[in-house]
Amino acid sequence: MPSENQRVSNSATDAFFVFADNDDTFMFADENGEEPTNEDNSGSQAVPNSPPTPVAVWKVLIVDDDVLIHRATILALEDCTFESKRLTFLHAHSGAQAKYLIQTHPDTALILLDVVMETDDAGLQLVQYIRAELHNYHVRIILRTGQPGEAPEASVILDYDINDYRLKTELTRQKLITVVISSLRSYGNILTIENRNSELTLALDYLQQTQTQLIQAEKMSSLGQMVAGVAHEINNPINFIYGNLFHTETYVQGLLKLIKTYQEHYPTPVQAIQTTAESIDFPFLMEDLPKLFDSMQAGSNRIKHIVESLRNFSRLDEAEIKPVDIHSGIDSTLLILQHRLQANGQHPEIAVIKEYGQLPLVNCYVGALNQVFMNILSNAIDALEIGTGDWGITSETFSLPTIRIRTEIQNANRVLIRIADNGLGMSESILKRIFNPFFTTKPVGSGTGLGLSISYSIVVKQHGGNLTCSSAPGKGTEFVIDIFIWSLD
Ligand SMILES: Nc1ncnc2c1ncn2[C@@H]1O[C@H](COP(=O)(O)OP(=O)(O)OP(=O)(O)O)[C@@H](O)[C@H]1O
Ligand SMILES: [Mg+2]
Repeated sequence: MPSENQRVSNSATDAFFVFADNDDTFMFADENGEEPTNEDNSGSQAVPNSPPTPVAVWKVLIVDDDVLIHRATILALEDCTFESKRLTFLHAHSGAQAKYLIQTHPDTALILLDVVMETDDAGLQLVQYIRAELHNYHVRIILRTGQPGEAPEASVILDYDINDYRLKTELTRQKLITVVISSLRSYGNILTIENRNSELTLALDYLQQTQTQLIQAEKMSSLGQMVAGVAHEINNPINFIYGNLFHTETYVQGLLKLIKTYQEHYPTPVQAIQTTAESIDFPFLMEDLPKLFDSMQAGSNRIKHIVESLRNFSRLDEAEIKPVDIHSGIDSTLLILQHRLQANGQHPEIAVIKEYGQLPLVNCYVGALNQVFMNILSNAIDALEIGTGDWGITSETFSLPTIRIRTEIQNANRVLIRIADNGLGMSESILKRIFNPFFTTKPVGSGTGLGLSISYSIVVKQHGGNLTCSSAPGKGTEFVIDIFIWSLD
């Protein structure tokens, strides 16, 4: 029962606790025998003592089945401000109401919580619900119990994630203000730390992305520079050969014609000429020489084509968007990877099946897109070097290691480039992470884990397209590059 200086008044205007002269008196009577008044308080809306203008406030949820406790708490705290923000109150009269309120007001800073309500441990159940089910670890919880027997401090503080434990009978007005302010301070600090944390996480993400791009750009630009250098060095000598081959053939044919004319006019030459003709197998030479020229012609054509492809691949410096022949980008990349496609001690030759559709020139960053082809094709070769799977991605069956490249136009405005391999595929957990920077399953030193993350940003961010992958263990892998065809005008 209330003591002399805890006199309760039922008048709405009267303070229902008379505070002592020092303005600090006991606020809450012993709960036993205390009858709640029949005050109408629905318990599910904020008390209208929050500031009229929408300023940031500290939300305090009072959970107690005794309406007097609600009133007394408001009387004690209504003029409180902390860090220039006022307090606003939410009221629940049972654990169930409180569950609803905390769910709908996750930004509640503090809960002043009774233990015994609809059940003996309703308050403790609520603590469990807030921490374990809602995963709300920010809100500060002060347990205020009138019946410590139901929730002994020593065990409650160990078993439940509460932030303070108070007996109602020990709480004077000033003490309540003190615990509330100190709880609001911790809540504010937690929010500040959380905010800093997310800022740091964002900054770290950004740094990682930038680092990824720098490393990959560096990797590709040194590859591009090397390729461009090699192409340039080969270009001059091959031009000599290519340019002179035609004249050489004409000269040699002239010489052969001269010899034939000699033969016609001197059918029986002197012995020395006959001996030389026999020693060089002149009839065979006559027959073979044109074939030799043909194959030299074909060889030098091929070298010219290779040089062109190398130059095409190394156009990394071309930073602006321009109309590009996608197929020539893929072919150039395959050419650079040619040595890895050939049979070696570890695997038979990797077959490349090209199913190219009719594509228009596509406006894109050619160097960047070639990087994407390079990354995806290198990964396919890496996978096929480990083993060959079922090729489960499509109905086709190939027993040999195979890469299949398909291109097509979709809906008249998109280009789809599908690059599939019948390697051993990957598990779902790997598949989920392949586009993450630095994710690699390759041994240290052989993979940086950047190939696909940079490819993703080239296709998605730089070209506004889409890059997807389907794969399953033992069933091969397919990447689909999907780029929008748009006009440069
Ligand atoms: N065709 C594929 N078949 C099986 N696994 C693949 C295939 N392509 C990618 N992966 C998986 O995705 C991971 C990430 O690939 P990514 O290209 O980003 O990095 P990496 O190849 O490991 O290293 P880097 O490309 O930087 O040298 C690979 O380590 C591999 O586990
Ligand atoms: Mg890779």
